[in-house]
This record gives sequence, C-alpha cells and structure tokens, in this order.
Amino acid sequence: MNIYTFKDEEGFVQTAANQITSLLNANPYAKLGLATGSTPVGLYNKLIEMHRQGLVSFANATTYNLDEYVGLPKDHAESYRTFMNEKLFNHIDINKEQTHIPNGNAEDLEDECRSYDRMLEQNGPIDIQLLGIGHNGHIAFNEPAESLTSGTHITTLQAKTREANARFFPSIDDVPTHAITMGVGSIMKARQIMMLIRGEDKAEIAKRALTGPVSTDCPASLLQCHPNVIVLLDQGAGRYFK
Ligand code: GLP
Repeated sequence: MNIYTFKDEEGFVQTAANQITSLLNANPYAKLGLATGSTPVGLYNKLIEMHRQGLVSFANATTYNLDEYVGLPKDHAESYRTFMNEKLFNHIDINKEQTHIPNGNAEDLEDECRSYDRMLEQNGPIDIQLLGIGHNGHIAFNEPAESLTSGTHITTLQAKTREANARFFPSIDDVPTHAITMGVGSIMKARQIMMLIRGEDKAEIAKRALTGPVSTDCPASLLQCHPNVIVLLDQGAGRYFK
C-alpha cells in the first residue's frame, strides 16, 4: 500500500486527478471504477477543470459505479445516478451509454446483481477503482459483518450508514434501507485501487483500515491484501500517518 498525506486540498485533489488523467492519456479506453459520497467531489471538479483545459478526454472511457440505493427513482435528487450525472458526467465528454451504475429499481434485483457481475466479468478488469470509506469501515456498501459477499448483492444499510447519509435527505426516514453494491471480490479484481479519505472524523477508521488487522469487521482492511493500492489522506484523516 502506498499511503500519502496532504497538507493542502489542492495537492490532494490534483494527485488523485493525475492518477486518472495519466491513465486515460496512456489508454483512452480505460475502465474507471467510480464512487459517490462527498469525498470524491473535489476530484470530480478537478477532472472537469482538466477536461475543460483540454488535458483529458473521457470520450472512449467506460465507467462502473460501485453502488446504488434500492427503490429511489433514477432521477431522484439523491440517487447515485443523479449524483454522477450532476457531479461529473454532465460536464465531460463521456458517452453516457458507457457509464454503468447498478439499477436499484430493477424488477428483479437478484437478476440485476447477476447482470452487473456478468458485465464486469466480460468487460473487466477495471483499471482503476476509486473508493471512499464509511465511518464503520465500509467500502461501497459492504458493511462490516462476520462474512462478506464477493459479488454484487443487495445489502441492508446499517443504522450508522443511514445516519451518516441522512444529511442528504429531508429526514432519516427518507434514507433508503437497502442498496445494491459491488462486492469486495469484484472490488479486489481492479488492477489498481485508489482510496481517498478525508476529514478528522475519518482519522480513526483510516488508522484501523490501513494498519489494523485484516478483518471482515472492517471491510476496507481487506485492501491491505491488494497488490496495487494508493491511499490519499487529507491532513485531518491522516493524523496518524504524519
Ligand atoms: C457512502 C458510499 C461509499 C462512500 C461512503 C463515504 O455510503 N456508499 O461509497 O465511500 O459512504 O461517504 P463520504 O465520502 O460522504 O464520507
């Protein structure tokens, strides 16, 4: 694992953006694994800026998102499809047909999970998978548990996760109870993983995930077993990594 901490926001987002733009400039057909949450927003803004400056094109790229809420209409303000369109896709030259997000409204959700895995299997591996981390150590929506699921699956969101995400909804009761998520096995198949962690409130979980025991109690700790992981921490989250 290569772990870097940044004193300034600019260095953090520029380094993250460079990982993606240099990949795309070397291979315009690169497959990007994308994430939602507040953490990658600065990176997405930087990618939009670099695209506008003519420094990168996404015209031939394909993207795969990690997860989606179950039961939120596709165009709901807080669906991950809306998030990705508004935060990134609407502002770059990507072909939207090449952007994939699990369908949380599929009539047959189990079938949707199988199709998403089939697609990843046929088109993969993902060249770079972007990840954030939940306060409980979740990656995508793989919550801490006695055992983890390898492939795409339906998951019940833990109270802590719903509370953390309630800030985006009118009230906690509006936060979906379930999500469809790529599994840890699919995530670990990516050629490279770039994890972004920011904020003092993530310092403890960053330490646990990156230096603690590898355990399904902290799904992000499994990344310690991946051969090609880069972790970028801002000053707050990187308190233990100075
Ligand atoms: C969400 C997403 C994760 C994300 C995490 C942290 O629940 N499913 O992919 O990494 O929570 O989000 P944030 O960056 O807003 O702290």
